[in-house]
Amino acid sequence: MSPDSIRRIGILTGGGDCPGLNAVIRAVAKTAMLQFGIEVLGIEDGFQGLIENRVRSLSFRDVSGILTRGGTILGSNNRCNPRRYCTSMAADGSPIFSDVTSTCLETIRSNRLDAVIVIGGDGTMLCAAPLIEAGINVIGIPKTIDNDLFGTEITFGFLTAVATATEALDRLHSTADSHHRVMVCEVMGRNAGWIALTSGVASGSDMILIPEIPYKEDAIAQYITQRMNSGPGFAIVVVAEGAKAVGGNPSVARIDPTSPDPIRLGGIGQRVADVIAARTNAEVRTTSLGHILRGGMPIAADRILATNFGYHAISILMEGASGRLVVRENNVFSDVDLLISAGRQRLVPTNHALITAARALGTSFGDGVGHTHGCVGSSTID
Ligand code: F6P
Repeated sequence: MSPDSIRRIGILTGGGDCPGLNAVIRAVAKTAMLQFGIEVLGIEDGFQGLIENRVRSLSFRDVSGILTRGGTILGSNNRCNPRRYCTSMAADGSPIFSDVTSTCLETIRSNRLDAVIVIGGDGTMLCAAPLIEAGINVIGIPKTIDNDLFGTEITFGFLTAVATATEALDRLHSTADSHHRVMVCEVMGRNAGWIALTSGVASGSDMILIPEIPYKEDAIAQYITQRMNSGPGFAIVVVAEGAKAVGGNPSVARIDPTSPDPIRLGGIGQRVADVIAARTNAEVRTTSLGHILRGGMPIAADRILATNFGYHAISILMEGASGRLVVRENNVFSDVDLLISAGRQRLVPTNHALITAARALGTSFGDGVGHTHGCVGSSTID
Protein backbone atom coordinates (compact mmCIF):
# COMPACT_ATOMS: atom_id res chain seq x y z
CA MET A 1 0.00 0.00 0.00
CA SER A 2 1.39 3.40 -0.94
CA PRO A 3 1.89 5.81 2.00
CA ASP A 4 -0.61 8.24 0.38
CA SER A 5 -3.43 5.77 0.89
CA ILE A 6 -2.80 5.36 4.66
CA ARG A 7 -5.85 7.02 6.24
CA ARG A 8 -6.47 5.02 9.42
CA ILE A 9 -4.06 3.26 11.78
CA GLY A 10 -4.42 1.20 14.96
CA ILE A 11 -2.11 1.33 17.96
CA LEU A 12 -1.66 -1.22 20.73
CA THR A 13 0.53 -1.62 23.81
CA GLY A 14 1.54 -5.22 24.55
CA GLY A 15 3.42 -7.06 27.30
CA GLY A 16 4.21 -5.73 30.76
CA ASP A 17 3.56 -2.01 31.11
CA CYS A 18 6.31 0.52 31.74
CA PRO A 19 6.79 4.26 32.17
CA GLY A 20 6.63 6.10 28.83
CA LEU A 21 3.87 4.10 27.12
CA ASN A 22 1.51 7.06 27.15
CA ALA A 23 4.30 9.32 25.91
CA VAL A 24 4.70 7.04 22.87
CA ILE A 25 0.95 6.82 22.25
CA ARG A 26 0.85 10.62 22.32
CA ALA A 27 3.82 10.97 19.95
CA VAL A 28 2.43 8.45 17.46
CA ALA A 29 -1.10 9.86 17.52
CA LYS A 30 -0.17 13.55 17.42
CA THR A 31 2.34 13.05 14.59
CA ALA A 32 -0.20 11.00 12.61
CA MET A 33 -3.06 13.47 13.19
CA LEU A 34 -1.18 16.76 12.84
CA GLN A 35 1.35 15.94 10.10
CA PHE A 36 -0.68 13.55 7.95
CA GLY A 37 -4.35 13.90 8.93
CA ILE A 38 -4.48 10.19 9.76
CA GLU A 39 -7.24 8.81 11.99
CA VAL A 40 -5.90 6.85 14.98
CA LEU A 41 -7.72 3.99 16.68
CA GLY A 42 -6.63 2.59 20.04
CA ILE A 43 -6.73 -1.20 20.48
CA GLU A 44 -7.45 -2.09 24.11
CA ASP A 45 -5.37 -4.45 26.26
CA GLY A 46 -2.84 -5.38 23.59
CA PHE A 47 -3.57 -8.39 21.38
CA GLN A 48 -6.57 -9.23 23.59
CA GLY A 49 -8.37 -6.22 22.12
CA LEU A 50 -7.44 -7.31 18.61
CA ILE A 51 -8.92 -10.75 19.27
CA GLU A 52 -12.09 -9.36 20.88
CA ASN A 53 -12.47 -6.38 18.53
CA ARG A 54 -12.18 -3.85 21.35
CA VAL A 55 -11.08 -0.83 19.35
CA ARG A 56 -11.88 2.85 19.95
CA SER A 57 -11.23 6.05 18.08
CA LEU A 58 -8.67 8.35 19.72
CA SER A 59 -9.27 12.08 19.57
CA PHE A 60 -6.60 14.76 19.88
CA ARG A 61 -8.00 15.43 23.35
CA ASP A 62 -7.56 11.74 24.32
CA VAL A 63 -3.82 11.92 23.64
CA SER A 64 -3.24 15.36 25.18
CA GLY A 65 -1.99 15.70 28.75
CA ILE A 66 -0.74 12.11 28.94
CA LEU A 67 2.99 12.66 28.37
CA THR A 68 3.87 12.29 32.04
CA ARG A 69 1.27 9.70 33.04
CA GLY A 70 2.45 6.18 34.05
CA GLY A 71 0.85 3.00 32.67
CA THR A 72 -1.02 3.00 29.36
CA ILE A 73 -4.38 4.60 28.54
CA LEU A 74 -5.03 1.63 26.23
CA GLY A 75 -4.36 -1.13 28.76
CA SER A 76 -1.88 -3.95 28.18
CA ASN A 77 -1.63 -7.70 28.42
CA ASN A 78 1.31 -10.11 28.71
CA ARG A 79 -0.73 -13.32 28.66
CA CYS A 80 -2.08 -13.36 25.14
CA ASN A 81 -0.46 -14.80 22.01
CA PRO A 82 -2.87 -14.98 19.00
CA ARG A 83 -1.01 -17.95 17.55
CA ARG A 84 -1.39 -19.86 20.80
CA TYR A 85 -4.47 -18.39 22.44
CA CYS A 86 -6.15 -20.09 25.41
CA THR A 87 -9.76 -20.65 24.26
CA SER A 88 -10.89 -23.05 27.00
CA MET A 89 -9.73 -25.33 29.78
CA ALA A 90 -9.51 -29.12 29.65
CA ALA A 91 -11.12 -31.21 32.39
CA ASP A 92 -7.76 -31.48 34.16
CA GLY A 93 -7.49 -27.67 34.28
CA SER A 94 -4.84 -27.37 31.56
CA PRO A 95 -5.39 -24.69 28.89
CA ILE A 96 -6.54 -25.58 25.36
CA PHE A 97 -4.89 -23.38 22.72
CA SER A 98 -6.06 -22.27 19.27
CA ASP A 99 -4.56 -20.09 16.54
CA VAL A 100 -6.79 -16.99 16.39
CA THR A 101 -4.67 -15.01 13.93
CA SER A 102 -7.62 -14.91 11.50
CA THR A 103 -9.76 -13.22 14.20
CA CYS A 104 -7.10 -10.51 14.57
CA LEU A 105 -6.99 -10.06 10.79
CA GLU A 106 -10.78 -9.70 10.74
CA THR A 107 -10.61 -6.95 13.42
CA ILE A 108 -7.99 -5.12 11.36
CA ARG A 109 -10.11 -5.51 8.20
CA SER A 110 -13.45 -4.55 9.75
CA ASN A 111 -11.95 -1.43 11.35
CA ARG A 112 -10.29 -0.54 8.02
CA LEU A 113 -6.83 -0.21 9.60
CA ASP A 114 -4.15 0.49 7.00
CA ALA A 115 -1.35 -0.21 9.50
CA VAL A 116 -0.90 -1.21 13.12
CA ILE A 117 1.66 0.37 15.46
CA VAL A 118 2.70 -2.26 18.00
CA ILE A 119 4.49 -1.05 21.14
CA GLY A 120 6.18 -3.85 23.06
CA GLY A 121 9.08 -6.15 23.78
CA ASP A 122 10.21 -9.42 22.21
CA GLY A 123 6.98 -11.24 23.20
CA THR A 124 4.83 -8.56 21.58
CA MET A 125 6.95 -8.63 18.42
CA LEU A 126 6.53 -12.42 18.35
CA CYS A 127 2.76 -11.93 18.51
CA ALA A 128 2.97 -9.40 15.65
CA ALA A 129 4.86 -11.79 13.36
CA PRO A 130 1.79 -13.67 11.99
CA LEU A 131 0.13 -10.35 11.11
CA ILE A 132 3.18 -9.34 9.06
CA GLU A 133 3.24 -12.77 7.42
CA ALA A 134 -0.44 -12.24 6.49
CA GLY A 135 0.46 -8.97 4.74
CA ILE A 136 -0.49 -6.42 7.43
CA ASN A 137 1.76 -3.40 7.72
CA VAL A 138 3.05 -3.45 11.29
CA ILE A 139 5.53 -0.93 12.70
CA GLY A 140 7.07 -1.87 16.06
CA ILE A 141 8.30 0.42 18.85
CA PRO A 142 10.69 -1.06 21.47
CA LYS A 143 9.37 -1.02 25.02
CA THR A 144 10.39 -2.73 28.25
CA ILE A 145 11.98 -1.87 31.57
CA ASP A 146 14.27 -4.88 30.97
CA ASN A 147 16.11 -3.19 28.03
CA ASP A 148 16.51 -6.64 26.49
CA LEU A 149 14.89 -6.35 23.05
CA PHE A 150 17.17 -7.61 20.30
CA GLY A 151 17.93 -5.07 17.57
CA THR A 152 18.01 -1.85 19.60
CA GLU A 153 20.54 -0.46 22.08
CA ILE A 154 17.76 0.92 24.27
CA THR A 155 14.07 0.49 24.98
CA PHE A 156 11.95 3.18 26.59
CA GLY A 157 10.94 2.54 30.21
CA PHE A 158 14.39 1.22 31.13
CA LEU A 159 15.92 4.52 32.22
CA THR A 160 13.01 5.29 34.54
CA ALA A 161 13.21 1.80 36.07
CA VAL A 162 16.95 2.34 36.64
CA ALA A 163 16.29 5.73 38.27
CA THR A 164 13.67 4.17 40.58
CA ALA A 165 15.94 1.24 41.49
CA THR A 166 18.87 3.59 42.11
CA GLU A 167 16.82 5.71 44.48
CA ALA A 168 15.72 2.60 46.37
CA LEU A 169 19.31 1.35 46.60
CA ASP A 170 20.45 4.76 47.87
CA ARG A 171 17.85 4.53 50.63
CA LEU A 172 18.97 1.01 51.54
CA HIS A 173 22.52 2.34 51.71
CA SER A 174 21.85 4.67 54.63
CA THR A 175 19.89 2.15 56.68
CA ALA A 176 22.51 -0.55 55.97
CA ASP A 177 25.15 1.85 57.25
CA SER A 178 23.23 2.65 60.46
CA HIS A 179 22.66 -1.00 61.36
CA HIS A 180 25.89 -2.49 59.94
CA ARG A 181 23.83 -4.88 57.85
CA VAL A 182 23.94 -6.51 54.46
CA MET A 183 21.00 -5.33 52.37
CA VAL A 184 20.06 -7.58 49.46
CA CYS A 185 17.80 -6.00 46.86
CA GLU A 186 16.16 -7.97 44.02
CA VAL A 187 15.26 -6.11 40.83
CA MET A 188 13.29 -7.20 37.76
CA GLY A 189 14.79 -7.74 34.31
CA ARG A 190 13.92 -11.34 33.32
CA ASN A 191 17.00 -13.17 32.01
CA ALA A 192 18.91 -9.94 31.42
CA GLY A 193 20.94 -8.04 34.00
CA TRP A 194 20.64 -4.53 32.55
CA ILE A 195 18.60 -3.04 35.41
CA ALA A 196 20.76 -4.64 38.13
CA LEU A 197 24.04 -3.69 36.45
CA THR A 198 23.10 -0.09 35.75
CA SER A 199 21.33 0.72 39.02
CA GLY A 200 24.03 -1.19 40.90
CA VAL A 201 26.76 0.98 39.42
CA ALA A 202 24.70 4.17 39.79
CA SER A 203 24.12 3.48 43.48
CA GLY A 204 27.66 2.27 44.22
CA SER A 205 26.40 -1.13 45.29
CA ASP A 206 29.12 -3.45 46.54
CA MET A 207 27.98 -6.60 44.80
CA ILE A 208 25.95 -6.98 41.60
CA LEU A 209 24.60 -10.39 40.61
CA ILE A 210 23.35 -10.73 37.04
CA PRO A 211 22.15 -13.76 35.04
CA GLU A 212 24.97 -13.40 32.52
CA ILE A 213 27.63 -13.96 35.24
CA PRO A 214 26.63 -16.95 37.37
CA TYR A 215 27.73 -16.50 40.97
CA LYS A 216 29.72 -18.75 43.32
CA GLU A 217 28.50 -19.00 46.90
CA ASP A 218 32.10 -19.18 48.16
CA ALA A 219 32.99 -15.95 46.36
CA ILE A 220 29.94 -14.18 47.79
CA ALA A 221 30.69 -15.31 51.34
CA GLN A 222 34.36 -14.37 51.08
CA TYR A 223 33.69 -10.91 49.71
CA ILE A 224 30.96 -10.09 52.24
CA THR A 225 33.04 -11.34 55.16
CA GLN A 226 35.98 -9.19 54.08
CA ARG A 227 33.81 -6.16 53.60
CA MET A 228 31.95 -6.55 56.91
CA ASN A 229 35.19 -6.96 58.82
CA SER A 230 36.80 -3.80 57.53
CA GLY A 231 35.87 -0.21 56.78
CA PRO A 232 32.21 0.78 57.16
CA GLY A 233 31.00 -2.75 57.92
CA PHE A 234 27.90 -2.86 55.77
CA ALA A 235 27.15 -3.99 52.22
CA ILE A 236 24.62 -3.47 49.45
CA VAL A 237 23.94 -6.41 47.14
CA VAL A 238 21.74 -5.91 44.08
CA VAL A 239 20.44 -9.12 42.53
CA ALA A 240 18.78 -9.42 39.11
CA GLU A 241 15.70 -11.66 39.34
CA GLY A 242 17.27 -13.98 36.74
CA ALA A 243 20.59 -14.40 38.58
CA LYS A 244 21.72 -17.94 39.26
CA ALA A 245 24.61 -19.88 40.80
CA VAL A 246 27.22 -21.56 38.61
CA GLY A 247 25.54 -24.78 37.48
CA GLY A 248 22.26 -23.70 39.09
CA ASN A 249 18.86 -22.62 37.80
CA PRO A 250 17.05 -19.28 38.05
CA SER A 251 14.47 -18.95 40.81
CA VAL A 252 11.00 -19.39 39.31
CA ALA A 253 8.09 -17.75 41.15
CA ARG A 254 5.31 -19.09 38.93
CA ILE A 255 4.49 -20.41 35.47
CA ASP A 256 1.83 -18.81 33.32
CA PRO A 257 1.20 -21.26 30.44
CA THR A 258 -0.98 -18.76 28.56
CA SER A 259 1.81 -16.18 28.26
CA PRO A 260 4.20 -15.90 25.27
CA ASP A 261 6.91 -15.96 27.96
CA PRO A 262 5.44 -18.33 30.58
CA ILE A 263 8.16 -18.19 33.26
CA ARG A 264 7.83 -15.55 35.98
CA LEU A 265 11.03 -15.18 37.97
CA GLY A 266 11.34 -14.18 41.61
CA GLY A 267 12.86 -15.19 44.93
CA ILE A 268 16.58 -15.20 44.13
CA GLY A 269 17.18 -12.20 46.43
CA GLN A 270 16.03 -14.21 49.43
CA ARG A 271 18.07 -17.21 48.26
CA VAL A 272 21.24 -15.09 48.13
CA ALA A 273 20.41 -13.51 51.50
CA ASP A 274 20.07 -17.01 53.01
CA VAL A 275 23.51 -17.95 51.66
CA ILE A 276 25.05 -14.82 53.18
CA ALA A 277 23.30 -15.36 56.53
CA ALA A 278 24.38 -19.01 56.67
CA ARG A 279 27.98 -18.46 55.63
CA THR A 280 28.95 -15.16 57.30
CA ASN A 281 28.29 -13.46 60.62
CA ALA A 282 26.41 -10.64 58.94
CA GLU A 283 22.85 -9.61 59.73
CA VAL A 284 20.98 -9.64 56.41
CA ARG A 285 17.73 -8.11 55.17
CA THR A 286 16.03 -8.57 51.79
CA THR A 287 13.95 -6.20 49.66
CA SER A 288 12.31 -6.99 46.32
CA LEU A 289 11.38 -3.97 44.22
CA GLY A 290 9.16 -5.95 41.85
CA HIS A 291 6.50 -4.00 39.96
CA ILE A 292 7.46 -0.70 41.64
CA LEU A 293 9.99 -0.45 38.78
CA ARG A 294 7.16 -0.55 36.22
CA GLY A 295 4.99 2.15 37.78
CA GLY A 296 4.89 5.91 37.89
CA MET A 297 5.78 8.74 35.55
CA PRO A 298 8.63 8.47 33.05
CA ILE A 299 11.77 10.51 33.75
CA ALA A 300 12.72 13.22 31.23
CA ALA A 301 15.11 10.96 29.27
CA ASP A 302 12.33 8.39 28.71
CA ARG A 303 9.84 11.08 27.65
CA ILE A 304 12.34 12.24 25.04
CA LEU A 305 13.10 8.69 23.89
CA ALA A 306 9.39 7.87 23.69
CA THR A 307 8.70 11.03 21.71
CA ASN A 308 11.50 10.25 19.26
CA PHE A 309 10.40 6.62 18.83
CA GLY A 310 6.74 7.59 18.27
CA TYR A 311 7.58 10.34 15.80
CA HIS A 312 10.03 8.09 13.97
CA ALA A 313 7.47 5.26 13.67
CA ILE A 314 5.00 7.47 11.82
CA SER A 315 7.76 9.09 9.74
CA ILE A 316 8.99 5.75 8.38
CA LEU A 317 5.43 4.50 7.88
CA MET A 318 4.70 7.52 5.69
CA GLU A 319 7.96 7.01 3.81
CA GLY A 320 6.69 3.56 2.79
CA ALA A 321 8.19 1.29 5.50
CA SER A 322 6.44 -1.97 6.32
CA GLY A 323 7.17 -4.67 8.94
CA ARG A 324 9.90 -2.56 10.57
CA LEU A 325 10.97 -1.99 14.17
CA VAL A 326 12.09 1.50 15.13
CA VAL A 327 15.45 1.26 16.94
CA ARG A 328 18.26 3.37 18.30
CA GLU A 329 21.81 2.32 17.50
CA ASN A 330 24.90 4.36 18.41
CA ASN A 331 22.56 7.15 19.47
CA VAL A 332 20.96 7.35 16.00
CA PHE A 333 17.32 6.46 15.32
CA SER A 334 16.78 4.01 12.48
CA ASP A 335 14.76 0.86 11.81
CA VAL A 336 15.32 -2.87 11.29
CA ASP A 337 13.25 -5.84 10.10
CA LEU A 338 10.76 -6.36 12.96
CA LEU A 339 10.93 -10.14 12.60
CA ILE A 340 14.57 -10.23 13.76
CA SER A 341 13.45 -9.11 17.23
CA ALA A 342 10.46 -11.49 17.53
CA GLY A 343 11.00 -13.56 20.67
CA ARG A 344 14.67 -12.60 20.76
CA GLN A 345 16.47 -11.09 23.75
CA ARG A 346 19.60 -8.95 24.05
CA LEU A 347 21.62 -9.91 27.13
CA VAL A 348 24.45 -8.03 28.85
CA PRO A 349 27.79 -8.94 27.23
CA THR A 350 30.09 -10.17 30.00
CA ASN A 351 32.84 -7.89 28.65
CA HIS A 352 30.56 -4.82 28.83
CA ALA A 353 32.52 -1.64 29.61
CA LEU A 354 30.39 -0.94 32.69
CA ILE A 355 31.28 -4.33 34.16
CA THR A 356 34.97 -3.65 33.56
CA ALA A 357 34.69 -0.22 35.20
CA ALA A 358 32.73 -1.57 38.17
CA ARG A 359 35.23 -4.36 38.74
CA ALA A 360 38.06 -1.79 38.65
CA LEU A 361 36.33 0.06 41.51
CA GLY A 362 36.16 -3.10 43.61
CA THR A 363 32.56 -4.09 42.87
CA SER A 364 32.02 -7.83 43.04
CA PHE A 365 29.96 -9.79 40.53
CA GLY A 366 29.93 -12.79 42.86
CA ASP A 367 32.23 -14.79 40.61
CA GLY A 368 35.45 -14.35 42.52
CA VAL A 369 36.94 -12.30 39.68
CA GLY A 370 38.25 -8.83 40.36
CA HIS A 371 40.56 -6.87 42.54
CA THR A 372 42.46 -8.47 45.36
CA HIS A 373 44.70 -5.57 46.34
CA GLY A 374 43.97 -4.32 49.80
CA CYS A 375 40.70 -3.09 51.09
CA VAL A 376 37.20 -4.02 49.98
CA GLY A 377 36.01 -2.37 53.15
CA SER A 378 35.47 1.03 51.60
CA SER A 379 32.09 1.40 50.00
CA THR A 380 32.41 1.96 46.29
CA ILE A 381 30.14 5.01 46.72
CA ASP A 382 32.44 6.62 49.31
O1 F6P B 1 9.21 -7.70 31.14
C1 F6P B 1 8.87 -6.81 32.16
C2 F6P B 1 8.75 -7.55 33.46
O2 F6P B 1 8.47 -6.60 34.48
C3 F6P B 1 9.97 -8.39 33.85
O3 F6P B 1 11.03 -7.64 34.35
C4 F6P B 1 9.36 -9.34 34.84
O4 F6P B 1 10.09 -10.55 34.89
C5 F6P B 1 7.97 -9.58 34.28
O5 F6P B 1 7.68 -8.49 33.43
C6 F6P B 1 6.89 -9.68 35.33
O6 F6P B 1 5.69 -10.01 34.73
P1 F6P B 1 4.27 -9.93 35.46
O7 F6P B 1 3.80 -8.51 35.40
O8 F6P B 1 3.41 -10.85 34.65
O9 F6P B 1 4.48 -10.38 36.86
